[in-house]
Amino acid sequence: MSFHGMNIPHDSAFTHVTGKSVFIDDRESLSSEVFVGFITSKYAKGIVKNIDFSKALECEGVYAGFTSEDFYDNSWGTIVHDQPLLAKNIEHFDEPIAILACKSKEIFEEIKALVEVEVIEDKSILDLDDSIKNKEFLYTAKAFVKGDTKTSFENSKYILEGDFYSGGQEHFYLESQACVVYPLEDGAVEVHSSSQHSSEVQHVVAHSLGLPMHKVSSIVKRMGGGFGGKESQPALFATCASLVALKLNRPARVVLTKDEDMKITGKRHPTKTYYKVAFDETGKIEALEADIYSDAGAYTDVSPSILERSMFHIDGAYNLENALIKGYVCKTNYPSNTAFRGFGGPQGTFVIENIIEDIANFLNIDALEIRKLNYYKGEECTTPFGQQVINNKLPELFEKIELSSEYKKRREEINKFNAQNNGYVKGLSLSAVKFGISFTARHLNQGNALVNIHLDGTIEASTGATEMGQGVNTKILQVIAEAFSISPSKVKIMATSTQRNANTSATAASSGSDLNSAAALKACEAIKERLKNLAWQVFYTQKSNDDFLSQIDEDVTSIEFKDGFVIDEKNSKSISLLELLDIAYKNRISICEYAHYKTENLTFNKEKGFGKAFNYFTNGVAVSEVIIDEFTGEKKVLRSDIIMDLGRMINPGIDEGQVAGGFVQSLGWVSMEKLVYSNKGELLTYSPTTYKIPSIHDMPEVFNIDFIENDTTTTNVRRSKAVGEPPFLLGISVFTAIKDALKYRAKNNELVKMNSPATNENILMTLENLKA
Ligand code: MTE
Ligand code: HPA
Ligand code: MOS
Repeated sequence: MSFHGMNIPHDSAFTHVTGKSVFIDDRESLSSEVFVGFITSKYAKGIVKNIDFSKALECEGVYAGFTSEDFYDNSWGTIVHDQPLLAKNIEHFDEPIAILACKSKEIFEEIKALVEVEVIEDKSILDLDDSIKNKEFLYTAKAFVKGDTKTSFENSKYILEGDFYSGGQEHFYLESQACVVYPLEDGAVEVHSSSQHSSEVQHVVAHSLGLPMHKVSSIVKRMGGGFGGKESQPALFATCASLVALKLNRPARVVLTKDEDMKITGKRHPTKTYYKVAFDETGKIEALEADIYSDAGAYTDVSPSILERSMFHIDGAYNLENALIKGYVCKTNYPSNTAFRGFGGPQGTFVIENIIEDIANFLNIDALEIRKLNYYKGEECTTPFGQQVINNKLPELFEKIELSSEYKKRREEINKFNAQNNGYVKGLSLSAVKFGISFTARHLNQGNALVNIHLDGTIEASTGATEMGQGVNTKILQVIAEAFSISPSKVKIMATSTQRNANTSATAASSGSDLNSAAALKACEAIKERLKNLAWQVFYTQKSNDDFLSQIDEDVTSIEFKDGFVIDEKNSKSISLLELLDIAYKNRISICEYAHYKTENLTFNKEKGFGKAFNYFTNGVAVSEVIIDEFTGEKKVLRSDIIMDLGRMINPGIDEGQVAGGFVQSLGWVSMEKLVYSNKGELLTYSPTTYKIPSIHDMPEVFNIDFIENDTTTTNVRRSKAVGEPPFLLGISVFTAIKDALKYRAKNNELVKMNSPATNENILMTLENLKA
C-alpha cells in the first residue's frame, strides 16, 4: 500500500477540534511562575532618559523591572545586529522599552501605567516617500541585468512609465507571540516558544544573556499560525522571558494580547516600485526597468532577503528579454517589517501583473491575450537573474484554465452586463505564479532529521521543521510511513527541539517539508539498508543469533519493505518487520538514525546577481471574477478558479487547504486589509474591529481548486513540490479583476491608477476619479 498521495488527516486534527492541543498559553503555570509584561514607547522616535519603576514596585505582586541595561548584549538581528531587545534609542511607536515581572497578567495590566518613562522626542520618518527621497537605505541590492534595456527602449513602439504601491499586512495569526521559560538547576533555560525557528530562539537567548548555547534548549511544539511573523520575531520575546527566568529563578511567561501583538510586531513590507516598460502593438513586452523600494520599518531584520525575493519575482510568470531590476530597503520609523507568506515575492509579481493590466488597457486588448503572449514558453528561457526555467508547466496551466474557467464565454457575458449600466460593474482577470523554491541565502537550504524505531514497530522522528498548521509534520510522517511501508498511525513527529536537531533553518521559504522530509527519508534509507542486509542473512544463511552484521557484501537490491513485512520476492522469502527489528536489536544493529540533507546545485552568485537561485519553481494560475457596486465601492468575488502544479503531492488534502488558505489570505491583502497610522506613527487599526481580514462571507462564491499531474520534479523529495506560499501570489487575480472592472468605466481608455489594497473606499474613489 502506498501512503504517498493519501489524504491522511493533519496530525493534530483530532486534538485541535477537541480542544486538547496545547499552545503556549495552555501550559499550566507553576506556582512560582511570573508574568512578563511590556512597557512600550509612546513616540515614534526619541531617547529614553529615565525609567522609574519605584511606584510600580511598591505594589503587591510586582517583582522586578528590567531595561536594556540588564542584558549581556542588548542588540540582535537575524542578518545585522541593529535591533535592541529593549530600546534606549526609540525607533518606533509601541516599541518595547522595559519589562515588568508580575504575579499575574491582571496585576501587570493594573499597574503598568505606574512605570514612569522620560523620553526626549526626536524627528521621525513616517512616509516611505521621504525615506526614498532622503536615501535612508538600510540595504541596496545588486541589480539584476538581462539583455540591454537601453537599446530596447530606444527602439520600442510603446513605453509606459509609472509607479505602483502595495500596502503592508498584519499576520493575524490566532496565537499571539508567546513563550514560557523554565530556569533549570545549572543556570540553563528551557524555552518553549511559538516560533518558526527553534535555532534562532536558542541563538538569540544565548547571545543576549551571555550563555553558551548548550545551556539554552529551545522547544517548539506547534504554533497557532506563523505566516512568517514568527520567523525572526519570537526571539525577542523568548529572550525577555529568559532574562526574567534567570534573574528571578522562576518560570516566566510572555503572552501578548492581540492588540499588543498588532501594535508591537512588524508586518508585510509595503513596497513602492517605479517602473518603465517597453512593448509592441501586440502587447509583447520588450523591456522592463524597475526600482523596488521596500519599507523595512525601523530595523534590518530579514528585509534584504525579502527585497531580493521581490526582485526575483518581478518577472512573475512572464519572460522579459531585457530587464534591469534594482532594489532598496528603506528605513522608516515603524515596527520592523518582517517575513510574511511569499516573503517579498508577492510584492514583486504584483508589479508585473499590474503592468500587464495597464498594457491591455492601453492597447485595448484583453489582458489574457497579453499574458498568453508573454508567459514563459518551452524550457530555454531564463529569468532576469539568469536561471533557466525548466520543467515549465505554464503553457499547460494557461491552456487548462482558459477552458475550465470558461474565460471567453464569461468575458462576453461581462461585456453585456457592464453595457447595461445598472449600477454594478464586473471584472474578470487571470494572474499567474512562478515561485522560486529555496531559501535565497544558500546556506539555509539544509535540514536534519532523527528517526528512532521502537521495538514495537512504532517510529518517533524529529526534524528542525516547526508545525504552524501547514501540515509539515503530517507530510514528514507520511514520507517515513511510505519508506517503511507501515501505517502512518505508527509514526509520530516529536516536538521540535534544539536538543534533538541543532543548527536548523527557519521553517520558511515553503521548503520546510522539502528539506526536512528529505532529511528524514535519508535517515530511513540508512536504517533500511541495515535491515535489508540483516534480512538477507536471515533468509539465506544458517548463522545463529548474535552473528548477524549490519553490513555484508551481498546484493540486497531485491529485498523490499511491503505492508509491514520485509520480503525478497525473487525467492518468496519474507519476515515481518517487527520480527526483524527484534533480531536487529538482539544483534546490536542500530534501528535509529540521524541524517543531514542539503539542496544541491544552487549556483546563484549574490555579487553578480546571477545564477540558479532556486531548486525549482512552483507554478499556478487563477481566474477571478468580481462585481462592484458603483454607488458604494463594495465588491464581491463571484468566482475564483485555481489550477496549480504541485508535482506528485504527498498529501493532496493538506495541499488543497494551503491553496485555499493562501489565496484567501492574499485576497485580504489586496482588497480588504488596510493599516492606518496616526501622524505620530501610532497604529490605529490594531484590532479586528478596525482591521478587516477576510471572513467566510468574503470567500469567492464559487471556488474551484484543481491540480495538474506532473512527475518531472526529480530534484525534490518524492517528486513533490512546495505549496505553502505560492498560492498567496494568486490572490493578485482579485486585484487585477477589480482593475479590469474599473477599466469599463474609464473614459477613452484612460489607465486605471490604483494602488493596493483595493478597499471599497479605494475602489469608490478610483471610480469617481475615472468618471470625473
Ligand atoms: N499555513 C498555516 N496553516 N499556517 C501558517 O502559519 N505559514 C505559511 C505557509 N502556510 C503558514 C501556512 C508560510 S509563510 C510558509 S513559509 C509555509 O507555510 C511554511 O511551511 P512549509 O515550509 O512546511 O510549507
Ligand atoms: N524565504 C523565507 N524566509 C527566509 C528566506 C527566504 O527566502 N531567506 C531567509 N529567510
Ligand atoms: Mo514564510 S514568509 O517563508 O515564513
